[in-house]
Amino acid sequence: MARNRWLAERRADPWVRMAKREGYPSRAAYKLKHIQRLYSIISPGDVVVELGAAPGGMLKVASELVGERGLVLGVDIRPIHCTEENVRHLKIDIYDPSAPREVMRLLDGVRCDVLISDASPNLIGVPEIDTLKQLDIVIRCCEIADEVLKDGGNIMLKAFECPELARLDRVLRSCFDNYKRVTTPPSLRKHSSEVYLVGIGRWEAPIAPLLRAAVG
Ligand SMILES: C[S@@+](CC[C@H](N)C(=O)[O-])C[C@H]1O[C@@H](n2cnc3c(N)ncnc32)[C@H](O)[C@@H]1O
Repeated sequence: MARNRWLAERRADPWVRMAKREGYPSRAAYKLKHIQRLYSIISPGDVVVELGAAPGGMLKVASELVGERGLVLGVDIRPIHCTEENVRHLKIDIYDPSAPREVMRLLDGVRCDVLISDASPNLIGVPEIDTLKQLDIVIRCCEIADEVLKDGGNIMLKAFECPELARLDRVLRSCFDNYKRVTTPPSLRKHSSEVYLVGIGRWEAPIAPLLRAAVG
């Protein structure tokens, strides 16, 4: 019954229909397009890593933005459905200690220009728990960024609004030339408190230990 309702909602969702029409594996494609229009986080020729990339809507957008001179690596525990020539896949849990090393191997040892994360935990519907799990994913993504992102690189990380986020904001603002919290159009969000943390031009690293200290 719940699955039938989920299927009916998907069929009625105009973003899902548009993604299907335009050949994107998911509606998340339009979230990256929205943020790219605002802040141009990805440039032609860039190397981009996406953590939590399945099924691959954002990956396909990133692939179009970097063009044939660029490279995009999608990381997820689930299968990725994006077969563009400039896209590579890595099936791994981002909490696996070997994840940063595996990312660098797939990038042929070259650090990336942009790291994005749309990774979400399995939500249990208890906001206090879901937001904290998401906060931990943000910090894990920054740990990986510390090992795979170039100096001067950009990040875009999914988070959920919560009181602790203000402390992360303070750290991230001090580590990037430009830092913003971005909300996507409400109709595109399934979780109403979803925001993306966008940092342009990282000049301070490592970031993750500062974040862990800030949230306690
Ligand atoms: C909202 S979906 C991502 C959608 C994707 N950005 C797109 O454009 O199609 C969140 C993804 O995060 C992944 N994820 C969650 N926790 C993860 C983990 N610990 N390691 C790897 N992937 C994870 C899930 O498997 C899921 O595919």
